[in-house]
Amino acid sequence: MAVLVTGGAGYIGSHTCVELLQAGYEVVVLDNLCNSSEKSLERVKAITGKDVTFYKGDILDRERLNEIFAKESIDSCIHFAGLKAVGESVAKPWEYYENNIAGTLTLVDVMRQNGCKNIIFSSSATVYGDPAMIPITEECPKGQCTNPYGWTKSMLEQILSDMQKADPQWNVVLLRYFNPIGAHKSGTMGENPNGIPNNLMPYITQVAVGKLPELGVFGDDYDTPDGTGVRDYIHVVDLAIGHVKALKKIEENAGLKIYNLGTGVGYSVLDIVKNFEAANDIKIPYVIKPRRPGDIATCYADATKAKEELGWEAQYGIKEMCADSWRWQKNNPNGYED
Ligand code: NAD
Ligand code: UD1
Repeated sequence: MAVLVTGGAGYIGSHTCVELLQAGYEVVVLDNLCNSSEKSLERVKAITGKDVTFYKGDILDRERLNEIFAKESIDSCIHFAGLKAVGESVAKPWEYYENNIAGTLTLVDVMRQNGCKNIIFSSSATVYGDPAMIPITEECPKGQCTNPYGWTKSMLEQILSDMQKADPQWNVVLLRYFNPIGAHKSGTMGENPNGIPNNLMPYITQVAVGKLPELGVFGDDYDTPDGTGVRDYIHVVDLAIGHVKALKKIEENAGLKIYNLGTGVGYSVLDIVKNFEAANDIKIPYVIKPRRPGDIATCYADATKAKEELGWEAQYGIKEMCADSWRWQKNNPNGYED
């Protein structure tokens, strides 16, 4: 039996493919490569020595999905495919709702028609909005999202939960990721953003490699220890392992489950700069800029539930996250384009 990994050529998907193969699963990837390169899957094969079956295609393409289900014996799906750029989602809301929501509706419809009712969905801490409690447990009420990307995650959580309620044969695991950074230890796989990065760590690594002159720190007047925003950064390999654990949970007929995947530790922007400098012996010049609209002061997880129910806990600390992010960027200054 195989796991269908939608968006498996992307950043988190490719790292998850490695962990799935190493855990003995057969892996089938569907990706339209709109934000990734097939080279990531070559790297997956090089690391694991195992094959991935790759279908280039779109989750909106019902025929392609049916073809995959006819050819492969898929019994569960890890669903990463989606558009994820917050700013772009504000400019192109229709495209985000179409791709992420209509795409997921098509995928789950084809799944159920083919008797496959096991899904792990990539959600985000963004569904908590400005969180009502810190650290954030899964009991924290969902909040107001500040952009269409966030709403797609919040709405898809609702849609998948309602489907599971109506048909208890579904097993649905919603994984709420905090801030994934880092890269595979080999330095051959990592995050490959298009254009100027929006997120903190890829921006820092591009300053370090000389592509960008300095980091802009968005606000130093938040109610945090040093005034800069605090987040829960999690190593992408830890996140990937969380998916393997969630798959084991599904195999126990879990029903509907929701887990935070974070470390439980918050670091400020300046903490990250300092840790990156110390781990890699590189200076990161920065300037303080105004706050970025939509940002919140503090966001970090209480990940106790994942520990208790999945037996999952983040293993990697901030030093490894900074060192691994840099190893990937240094070895691949142009991502997968080299
Ligand atoms: P990514 O862009 O690297 O991966 C997403 C993959 O999906 C890409 O390979 C892209 O080509 C593919 N894709 C997009 N639309 C598709 C479609 N219609 N059909 C087929 N393939 C399609 O992003 P990532 O960082 O690996 O994120 C994976 C998932 O996790 C996304 O759903 C994202 O929203 C979610 N997530 C990411 C973060 C983060 O910080 N990276 C945080 C929370 C949640
Ligand atoms: C952002 C998204 C969130 C998404 C997550 C992971 C917003 C409002 N939120 O979260 O929906 O799930 O990415 O993709 O965009 N920072 C700087 N300078 C920079 C970049 C970031 O100071 O050049 C600061 C931010 O203000 C924040 C922290 O670094 O305090 C982390 O930012 P980022 O990496 O963009 O993640 P989030 O904003 O937490």
